[in-house]
Amino acid sequence: MRARTDYLVIGSGVAGLFFALKAASYGEVLILTKDRPEESNTTYAQGGIAGVFSSEDSFEAHIQDTLTAGDGLCRTEIVREIIREAPDAIEELMSYGVEFDRDAEGHLALGREGGHSYPRILHRGDATGAAISRALLKAVQNHPRIQLWAGFFALDLITQHHLGIYVNRGYPGIACYGVYALEERTGTIWTILARVTVLASGGAGQVYAVTTNPPTATGDGVAMALRAKARIANMEFYQFHPTALYEPEKRPAFLLTEALRGEGAKLLDPIHHRPFMAKYHPQAELAPRDVVARAIDTEAKIAGTPYVYLDARAIPNLPQRFPTIYTYCTRKGLDPTTDLLPVAPAAHYMVGGIDTDAVGRTSIQRLYAIGEVSYTGLHGANRLASNSLLEALVFARRAAAHSAPLLKECKWQEDVPDWDPRGSRHPEEMVLISHNLQELRTLMSSYVGIVRSTFRLERARRRIALLYEETEAFYAHTYPSRPLFELRNLIAVAYLIVKCASIRKESRGLHYILDYPHKNQQLVVDTLV
Ligand code: FAD
Ligand code: SIN
Repeated sequence: MRARTDYLVIGSGVAGLFFALKAASYGEVLILTKDRPEESNTTYAQGGIAGVFSSEDSFEAHIQDTLTAGDGLCRTEIVREIIREAPDAIEELMSYGVEFDRDAEGHLALGREGGHSYPRILHRGDATGAAISRALLKAVQNHPRIQLWAGFFALDLITQHHLGIYVNRGYPGIACYGVYALEERTGTIWTILARVTVLASGGAGQVYAVTTNPPTATGDGVAMALRAKARIANMEFYQFHPTALYEPEKRPAFLLTEALRGEGAKLLDPIHHRPFMAKYHPQAELAPRDVVARAIDTEAKIAGTPYVYLDARAIPNLPQRFPTIYTYCTRKGLDPTTDLLPVAPAAHYMVGGIDTDAVGRTSIQRLYAIGEVSYTGLHGANRLASNSLLEALVFARRAAAHSAPLLKECKWQEDVPDWDPRGSRHPEEMVLISHNLQELRTLMSSYVGIVRSTFRLERARRRIALLYEETEAFYAHTYPSRPLFELRNLIAVAYLIVKCASIRKESRGLHYILDYPHKNQQLVVDTLV
């Protein structure tokens, strides 16, 4: 089957939906999303979205906090531009019906999170992402120029490679003509041609054994971009959220938002129940995330337990301010107003990604990347809490405005052949997929987690190479399926994380490696693949 559109958007999180709403002023938009429309990292976001909305706060303070978290690798001009654009982008978001909490006088209620020197987090209780997703989906579904096809899995970007041309990384002018996509319900593989293609496919937390990300976060966009020979940046920086509720085997792990610490919750060691964060950082519980996650890892290892405790008992009105967390915990038999909550770090956010410029353009013509799948330079070596929803909004509207002239300039590439499934069989041995997936996650968590070493990275590299070989051999004679492609994509993500981590011979931001425990000022450069 074939289809054509002006704009093709992969993903129905905040980045894809906001882009679609903006781009629909210029042309027809088709959004593909592999699961239910609301299944995305966006829907799970708790804390909120950062922006300067109070007179005590300033753009300069938000810029400095972002640069400090980014630990020398942020693109300073991007940081300045995005943070100045934040209030306007957030107001535009509100114009689609997203309502944030307000105080008794009707002013926006601003929360505080780690690394922020002022309260500046707009939130909707502790379910901010769900409120954003709901409002944007409604606007998209009511828009006459936007179609949303759910249950469509984008398999690969279409480039000159599919026209029979040999394309390597040095090939001048690689261009994207659309995607091949699997309609899961029927098993049909569609050829979807577009004038402009936008990857808004989110992160890859599923590459680790413990993650806050839903099952959709399998790094498909980065993997497709890698196969299409796009430039990828800084994949060594994977952010672990310090405080996921400790529940062995629970996927995704349930997040206990940083806003709890912003409201005064303390981290306690698991034996004596004493606060420990002041030992590690002057900002204690509100230190940047990498510091808090490593401190928890250290304290848990000292105690010989897989968790430490979060003490939220002193937060006034906890059930009203954090209703999702209160309800979830009490269902599990833990009352946050009277009990200590066991917490451990969980893979949370892909800081690196497809390298883009200031308007979301990738190194491939007619291809944009926005949201978590991209690396724009806003986050550097470590993302400041609640800056990612913001980044997605700002880049979505920048990419929409920038790509509009391409609708006139770019034609559909009609001679693209359909996907050729000849010789491929329907998979009989699904066990290979599930076994390799489990092995991949375990090795990534054991060897490429919060603390790394050259030895562990090398072990990981060898094992990933083996998983790659086995999975590609299976793929060569197997009809495409979502589980198989997700496994291939996660292997690609794991390869990128290990490769970038092996290149960076220093510890910076989220990348901490025992053999090189300090920063090296000669290495203030992006890791590019
Ligand atoms: P997503 O929202 O993840 O959307 C990606 C979409 O792409 C999904 O619809 C997915 O199904 C689709 N997709 C993926 N691959 C394919 C494919 N092959 N074919 C078709 N469709 C595909 N950030 C903040 O700023 N503040 C917070 O408070 C906050 N809290 C968070 C809490 C949790 C538990 C989590 C997991 C993340 C949180 N984040 C927060 C991070 C933030 O939610 C994400 O970075 C952001 O929502 C990413 O948006 P996105 O649109 O780029 O991707
Ligand atoms: C949280 O609510 O703690 C998550 C915020 C974020 O990831 O930005």
